[in-house]
Amino acid sequence: MLKEKTIVLGVSGGIAAYKAVELLRLFVKAGAEVFVVMTKSACEFVTPLTFQTLSGNPVHTELFNLYQEREIGHISLADRADLVVVAPATANIIGKVAGGLADDLLSTTLMATKAPVLFVPAMNVNMYENPLYRANQEKLAGFGYHFLEPVTGYLACGWEGKGKMPEPSAVLEQALRLLSPQDLAGETLLVTAGPTREELDPVRYLSNYSSGKMGYAIARAAYQRGARVILVSGPAALPVPCGVELVKVVSAVQMRETVMDRLAEATVVIKSAAVADYRPAVRCGQKIKKGPAEQLDLALEKNPDILAELGERKMTQLLVGFAAETADLVENARKKLESKNLDLIVANDVSRSDAGFDVDTNAVRLLYRDGSSEELPLLSKSEVAWQLLDRIARLRKPTA
Ligand code: PMT
Repeated sequence: MLKEKTIVLGVSGGIAAYKAVELLRLFVKAGAEVFVVMTKSACEFVTPLTFQTLSGNPVHTELFNLYQEREIGHISLADRADLVVVAPATANIIGKVAGGLADDLLSTTLMATKAPVLFVPAMNVNMYENPLYRANQEKLAGFGYHFLEPVTGYLACGWEGKGKMPEPSAVLEQALRLLSPQDLAGETLLVTAGPTREELDPVRYLSNYSSGKMGYAIARAAYQRGARVILVSGPAALPVPCGVELVKVVSAVQMRETVMDRLAEATVVIKSAAVADYRPAVRCGQKIKKGPAEQLDLALEKNPDILAELGERKMTQLLVGFAAETADLVENARKKLESKNLDLIVANDVSRSDAGFDVDTNAVRLLYRDGSSEELPLLSKSEVAWQLLDRIARLRKPTA
């Protein structure tokens, strides 16, 4: 995700400095080259050796030592960075930058860099609410510096309130967004994911093996690429992707209602959910008891076909469907593309054990309205999502 990206991680002196260690680990795991710059007070909380060991790069703490070190003396950290992340960012470092001061290595790097800068403030709630601090943050935001808001909770100083550094995974997500092409900025994507559950009685339901992984990967990637994302999800045990509006539903009927309610907001609709085609004709109010008969017949009635209705109702939206097939993949998918008035369909061969339901990889063929198609190799669901969004971005802005 962050291959060939260089991140300068600035750590200033707050108790949340320990979270910067985990953040560094996540950056490195995602493939980034990371150089850590610590303020003097940060070194009181965590040792430079910890960051040095995890980053595999020397940790920089002193402005003047930096210039003396032969191996990096001619390389400016500020120039190397694709992104500078300051986490935790104290009121002090933010105040310094807002005041145009550059009196140590971190503030000098921040002053010199042309890379985007993400501040992750963490401090006492009263400091965070102090008008002087607020003015500094607003001033920097006005100059294009990025901020990830602290979260509310119990603070190390004993106070309760807004001031906690968000989890490192949330910082990683913001970093990914800042390093991704913003080719979906201005778009609103309505994405459906997961299975639907069709209740039979208070303790039983009909459903399928969809985990939601494919749809959540699309939602996450779309947010990273600048889109506003509304994710309508059936029951799924996945974390809510950062920055995404999640609307939880259970049944196909609920999914239909939500999707139709939100349709007018969307510029692109992607229906990756595995919606049950049928539901029990009768929902029993009490648990169905075992009887003497050897067989129990279950009457089913048709669920609404959400995608087909979208095909009829869509105005300017780009409509993307999925087709989960175990046989005649292309023929069946093409029929769905045409009968449901889609712009693009993702034909998903779910007979493979490494593709489709509840696995981390997928193998798909993309079929377009003009009759053309392209096959993608076996990829992670995250990579499938990125490739699909590449195509969608192109269809939305053909001249870009
Ligand atoms: O969630 P995962 O575990 O990651 O698995 C991913 C997936 C296999 C669920 C996904 O890649 C996928 O193929 N999704 C579509 C599953 C499906 O229901 O396919 P279908 O061929 O039955 O339906 C065709 C299209 O119509 C789909 O876009 C579906 O969302 C839509 N549909 C279907 C029935 C219905 N009543 N309403 C619908 O809108």
